[in-house]
Amino acid sequence: MRQKIVAGNWKMNKTMAEAQALAAELVGMVSSEVNTNTSVVLCVPFPYLPVIKYQLGKSSIKVGAQNCSEHEWGAYTGEVSALMLKSMEIPYVILGHSERRQYFGEDGKLLAKKIDKALTATLTPIFCCGEPLEVREAGNHEKLVKQQVEEALFHLSDADLKKIVIAYEPVWAIGTGKTATAQQAQEMHAVIRKQLASKYGEAAAQEISILYGGSVNAKNAHELFSCADVDGGLVGGASLKSREFVDVIKVMK
Ligand code: 13P
Repeated sequence: MRQKIVAGNWKMNKTMAEAQALAAELVGMVSSEVNTNTSVVLCVPFPYLPVIKYQLGKSSIKVGAQNCSEHEWGAYTGEVSALMLKSMEIPYVILGHSERRQYFGEDGKLLAKKIDKALTATLTPIFCCGEPLEVREAGNHEKLVKQQVEEALFHLSDADLKKIVIAYEPVWAIGTGKTATAQQAQEMHAVIRKQLASKYGEAAAQEISILYGGSVNAKNAHELFSCADVDGGLVGGASLKSREFVDVIKVMK
């Protein structure tokens, strides 16, 4: 059985005080309202990680980072390494988010290195892939997503592949209020799973959690999360409001 996951990506939002208030609300609401085997993860800005982790305490909610360096240690001003995250006992890290690809020039080669560093540090990478609108309109979305997956992940051993979570996030659906239809999500998730099966075998492919991201909210989550190959969500805007995010989590049975 693959792990169901709902992860919130706070991106570059909230002051420290607002972040603490949101985390406190979520701890209370998740413990009183949520009864599921789904893993709930909050991917918060770097400086807030230790504080939010401490605040989550013994709650079932886990914390994650939104990026890490491709380097281990050293003279890389402003960077944060996977081993630093590990030393703070941060279990998850988002890698390859389309905003990192688009605004910070991250490509498959770089992401393959970041994935390696995260795995060496025994973090769970949430690897993001997804196509821009023009690529979908040209009918090349499957080709591009498969290329993104291959470039960043196909150097991994069978054992390491199992440690990855994938998030399919069509760029045109991120922050736009325009979500993929359940059919579009299911189709792409099935394509990714089939691609994994072709390289790592069907059993391995069935073990990998593939999350959907892009304008997920409490209204559309049920339809999206009901798809056979959708194992949860990576949620941006809706994870910034406790009521909305908990309602998304509650969709998972
Ligand atoms: P939105 O849910 O705001 O569209 O963001 C999705 C996302 O980028 C999560 O990583």
